Amino acid sequence: MEVKGNVKLIGEIKVPGDKSISHRSIMLGSISQGNIKIKNILFSQDTLRTIDCFRAMGVSIEADEQNNRATVHGLGLHGLKDPNKPLDCGNSGTTMRLMSGILLGQNFSSTIYGDESLNSRPMSRIINPLKSMGGNISGREERLPPLIIEPSSQLHGINYRLPVASAQVKSAILLASLYSKGITNIKEDKITRDHTERMLQYFNGNIEYSTTQVSLKETDDLIGRDIFVPGDISSAAFFIVGASILKGSSILLKDVGLNPSRTGIIKVLKSMGASIEIQNRKTLNNEEFGDIKVNYSDLKAITLEGNIIGTLIDEIPIIAVAACFAKGKTIIRNAEELKYKETNRIKAISVELRKMGCNIEELEDGLVIHGQQKLNGARLNSYNDHRIAMALTIAALNSSGYSYIENWDCVKISYPNFYNDLKNITYNI
Ligand code: S3P
Repeated sequence: MEVKGNVKLIGEIKVPGDKSISHRSIMLGSISQGNIKIKNILFSQDTLRTIDCFRAMGVSIEADEQNNRATVHGLGLHGLKDPNKPLDCGNSGTTMRLMSGILLGQNFSSTIYGDESLNSRPMSRIINPLKSMGGNISGREERLPPLIIEPSSQLHGINYRLPVASAQVKSAILLASLYSKGITNIKEDKITRDHTERMLQYFNGNIEYSTTQVSLKETDDLIGRDIFVPGDISSAAFFIVGASILKGSSILLKDVGLNPSRTGIIKVLKSMGASIEIQNRKTLNNEEFGDIKVNYSDLKAITLEGNIIGTLIDEIPIIAVAACFAKGKTIIRNAEELKYKETNRIKAISVELRKMGCNIEELEDGLVIHGQQKLNGARLNSYNDHRIAMALTIAALNSSGYSYIENWDCVKISYPNFYNDLKNITYNI
């Protein structure tokens, strides 16, 4: 993909539905009672993997990809059928980790696997707690996919303190708790996204939660209800940063998710001096959303560490791009988890931004970025990581000359229409 520098962003955009909420709507819809209509669901490579896996387990899912709508005919907690074949999670960590929690409670055996990237991502973080619930789950070398899950005689609730800040791990345990005797209590040291908790509550689950604590009692059945999936703030983040760093830009992003466990990006950019205004706040199915107005503004550097990291973990590559154009030295720490994403994102973003002339250092758990005014166009690699591809594209828009993004089509993982949407709001200066 060729990307021309020296442009500005003007106009209105509706980013696609939130990936995390879309996965959960398919999974929880499948194990609930009733027909659940989902509006604005994301159809992307990752969510299509979840849809295929649940279809293979007998769930009827009508997908209207033209209008981003789906209807899931829920089978109830105990209605899934033996797929009689290994389940393919593709590149999607959310599919693999969350679905493991559900599979733990089934009376059939299952094998789940992914692509090369997913098959090298750590799974002991779910294997350990799921085993301690009485589950029968094992992985290659006890820590990697493929995972094999066998029926267990009786699962039971656990008290668990999350050793890694991970919503996927928390959600896997919560989903397994639906099939377990007694209560599960989970404590978190750092905030992670709480979409599973919110949807379980909306579906009548026996759940109580606060920012860093959740309890779930065994539930007779979940009652499915219709869902509106707000726009994905992680997708919106590329345009929010783009408009903030490209002189003359002014954009409006419609109906973007504003769940407080996801809005770290807005807080951080505002403290960097960005001009961001939230309008038309609404709440549907326990999830907040609204419109985000962004105008170009001079940015200054920031130090990012501690609790806020979990609320913007997927946005760090694009925050690094913002920091390239901010005045001063930006320091990002406590973000070691970035090494275990679709690629090692600390390494990928540093190596590629350096090719454009950025002064950026890698830390064990983060980055140091020395902000400057201009970068140079370059030939860049996405490492087949959708968020790296989109972050580099935005960096390229604010660079001299042309850049070439290799393996750009991985954007299909979370945002298939990214380049078209971007083109529609891009103007030469
Ligand atoms: C997700 C949780 C996060 C995030 C991922 C989606 C989810 O992963 O990075 O893109 O939907 O629960 P971790 O739980 O590994 O932090």
